[in-house]
Amino acid sequence: MITENSTYSKKDNEYYSKIIAELEKECFPEDPWSKEAVKSSLERDDILYLVTFLDGKAISYFLAAASYGTAELYRIGVLPTFRGQGKGERLMKSFLHYLPKDTEKVYLEVRESNKAAIGLYEKTGFQKIGERKNYYGNENGIIFILNV
Ligand SMILES: CC(C)(COP(=O)(O)OP(=O)(O)OC[C@H]1O[C@@H](n2cnc3c(N)ncnc32)[C@H](O)[C@@H]1OP(=O)(O)O)[C@@H](O)C(=O)NCCC(=O)NCCS
Repeated sequence: MITENSTYSKKDNEYYSKIIAELEKECFPEDPWSKEAVKSSLERDDILYLVTFLDGKAISYFLAAASYGTAELYRIGVLPTFRGQGKGERLMKSFLHYLPKDTEKVYLEVRESNKAAIGLYEKTGFQKIGERKNYYGNENGIIFILNV
């Protein structure tokens, strides 16, 4: 998914994989998804994604999956120079808006040191439901859920 009124094709998947992989490098420098990994996820039927542009430059995105009433937010990112301006919150609202109508629960997992993301999730209403010990090497992962 790109915007509400756009159409897309496999060719767009190639184009958006490249753009998202570039955003990944800046938003997740520790463990960016490769272009190939992004592309294979975009080809799945259950994938939802959105890339936002400012003056022709891609500045933020999310990547998620939704099926059978459950969604998982894999990635949400804003380029470093555009953070702290409410763009992450707007992106999260778009994600929730575009979920299939039958969605009841959204899950996500985050590094416990990622205070900005945790702040965004808590502000959105996500609740912590568990931890995965050392999920990110020697760092724990925190699992959040939102009932929608
Ligand atoms: C997480 C991220 C998307 C937030 O984007 P953003 O545009 O800076 O967020 P916003 O300006 O919309 O802030 C929304 C809320 O998030 C929280 N927040 C944002 N930055 C924060 C920070 N540095 N510390 C604590 N809370 C923060 C606050 O609750 C904020 O609401 P407030 O402004 O009313 O306090 C951004 O920091 C990012 O891209 N990080 C790198 C990628 C990442 O870690 N993604 C999440 C894991 S998938």
